[in-house]
Amino acid sequence: MKKKSYDIKSGIMQKLTPPVLFLLLVVLLVNLVLYQFFSNVYFSYDQANIEPNSCSHGYFRLGILKNCLPWLSCEAMKREVRKLKLVGEGAVKRVFLSEWKENKVALSQLTKPQLEEDFIHGLQMLKSLQSKYVVKLFGYCEEEFMVLTEYHPFGSLNNLNDILNLPKYKNSNTWYNRFLLAIDYVSIIHYLHNSPLGTFVMCDSSDLDKVLSQYLLTSSFHVVVNDLDALPLVNKSAGQLIKCGHQELQGNFVAPEQLWPYGKTTPFADSLMPPYDEMTDIWKIPDVSNFLLGEVDGSDLVRFHLFDIHVACKKSPAERPSAQMVLDTYRKILASLVRESVMPRTKDML
Ligand SMILES: Nc1ncnc2c1ncn2[C@@H]1O[C@H](COP(=O)(O)OP(=O)(O)O)[C@@H](O)[C@H]1O
Ligand SMILES: [Mg+2]
Repeated sequence: MKKKSYDIKSGIMQKLTPPVLFLLLVVLLVNLVLYQFFSNVYFSYDQANIEPNSCSHGYFRLGILKNCLPWLSCEAMKREVRKLKLVGEGAVKRVFLSEWKENKVALSQLTKPQLEEDFIHGLQMLKSLQSKYVVKLFGYCEEEFMVLTEYHPFGSLNNLNDILNLPKYKNSNTWYNRFLLAIDYVSIIHYLHNSPLGTFVMCDSSDLDKVLSQYLLTSSFHVVVNDLDALPLVNKSAGQLIKCGHQELQGNFVAPEQLWPYGKTTPFADSLMPPYDEMTDIWKIPDVSNFLLGEVDGSDLVRFHLFDIHVACKKSPAERPSAQMVLDTYRKILASLVRESVMPRTKDML
């Protein structure tokens, strides 16, 4: 009798063991997949939050060099930097791929003397706002209107679609990676609005191409801001608002408060144009993010989730969310989309 019940039990055990083992294996696998996926997400966040190569103010580190070196002086730049080819040009600067001690660097030079003031303001901002959000400064020469920065071979954000369509990077052309770029972009706006020196507005932004041309795409697919020439300071508590230039702005890319409010019959006069604040940058976030998200599998789903926050960005200035609120929302949506895209797979597996 005892033997019989033992036989039954061991029979049941034998029957149960393979499915239990299989289930355990599946759970283990699911955990592994989840860990892998989430560690990837957090790796990107971590990578974006730590500055492993940062040097103290006035110093820089280049490539594999271990030491922090002082910013190059006029003499060093004139002696040691060799121009190779023109890689970009805007209204204020001509930018040359150049060589310094066998390293590729970017040398920016003033295009015309009338814009000296903008050039020097951009340089001051570059010096003051050095951080992971801003292109690395290697040296400058005020007398000769030259600035030396880190060279980014992918160039400005305008090149994003071309780069991601190259066979080499096609696999990186995902909604996930593109959403990370949008998060990078909003992080930069957040940094400019909350910098140690106060609230700055990115004024060189009258149309989408213009905005994109002020940012660079790094080889590790991050975004840094490069052109800080038109960066006025807002100080609301002191009642100090700004205007982006002295000319009339037009079109529906700029925020409504940047447009001439007195109709076509009254000619534009800078002195009558009301000033505004950093909320113009918030108005432009949905358009820039839409470009960054592109047209890949899943980017429309991201757009759907961003709908409410993007509607809020297009409200009147006082009703728009802060960059911090947009950033928090973007991060929450990314985390929930990652969870959603992992969970159905794990359910299928079970
Ligand atoms: N460090 C860099 N690496 C690669 N390309 C750059 C770099 N800096 C600028 N460029 C290119 O030069 C263009 C013009 O630079 P920018 O600083 O915006 O000049 P401007 O002040 O005249 O608008 C950029 O849009 C980009 O294409
Ligand atoms: Mg520019």
